[in-house]
Amino acid sequence: MAVAILLVGGFGTRLMPLTKNTPKPMLTVAGVPVTEHQIAMAKSAGITEIVLATSYLSEVFIPHFGDGSKWGIKIKYAVENEPLGTGGAIRNAAQLLDSKESIVVLNGDVLSSHNLKEQIKQHEAHDADVTLHLTQVEDARAFGCVPTDEEGRVTAFLEKMENPVTNQINAGCYVFNPRVISTIPLDTVVSVERETFPQLVASGAKVFGYVESAYWLDIGTPRALLKASIDIVKRNGEFLAMPGSFIDPAATVAGGSCIGANTVIGAGAVIEGSIIESGCVIGSNSTIINSFVATGANIAENAKIASSCVTNSEILLIP
Ligand code: GTP
Repeated sequence: MAVAILLVGGFGTRLMPLTKNTPKPMLTVAGVPVTEHQIAMAKSAGITEIVLATSYLSEVFIPHFGDGSKWGIKIKYAVENEPLGTGGAIRNAAQLLDSKESIVVLNGDVLSSHNLKEQIKQHEAHDADVTLHLTQVEDARAFGCVPTDEEGRVTAFLEKMENPVTNQINAGCYVFNPRVISTIPLDTVVSVERETFPQLVASGAKVFGYVESAYWLDIGTPRALLKASIDIVKRNGEFLAMPGSFIDPAATVAGGSCIGANTVIGAGAVIEGSIIESGCVIGSNSTIINSFVATGANIAENAKIASSCVTNSEILLIP
């Protein structure tokens, strides 16, 4: 059995202005907040208890998730008044967990269908200090890479480079032995990626890689967020309309678009490859292509929007 910490307290600056009022993990992918996808994934791996490590816009999470009973899982909340970084957040949140079980840590902005149960099993079989999910990418130059030896032990955490020595990268899902978490200082800003992990490897701790390249996507940028939603929606059809939405019969919705609850799409509107969040009003004959429209936004009739993030007060081209 294992318990989990979800890191959901970052500012999500790369997704501004979408993250002005909504924390990144609460943005929707295929009609459901990213955090809900992660809770489902954790639950299916046998996790029974999760702490949400919150900071930025922390007040959004409790009313939505409550005690977790709706999802059949126990949810608790750790709030950092000032963001403590990934390591500080883990240390702070772990105080709410029974310290004897393996602790799974999930970055709140990753969608992954890797076999977490197997990752936990290997971690425990190795009696490891930490076991990181590593995924293989075609071009590792945009990432730091994580080489492992023939036994699967991590040998280094390398910064981005022109000629990466491996295509294995940190996929943002860790299994910790609780004794390691208790060595991270309390109430201190610490990065696990830049400080804790490299220090553990340097000190000879048992840091293992669990290499699996199942579906994996970091939704930290608008392009990636759209791709994640389109990928999931397209598994079942051309578009997804959440309960309570209304699409005028004379509108066209396609390309893996998702229409949020209580959103109204006017006659003649064309929506292609986009996420329209809940409570939006999309004017008739408007065109929205490859864009993200934030909760409650009103789009004027005849508007032409392409590759943009839109809120009620801002529109920004996706880089
Ligand atoms: P950018 O500002 O766009 O880089 O996004 P971010 O602030 O979310 O940072 P990053 O993608 O590096 O964070 C990885 C994960 O850790 C995300 O799920 C964040 O929500 C989370 N995170 C980052 N910093 C903190 C922190 O200080 N506290 C907590 N609780 N979570 C954090």
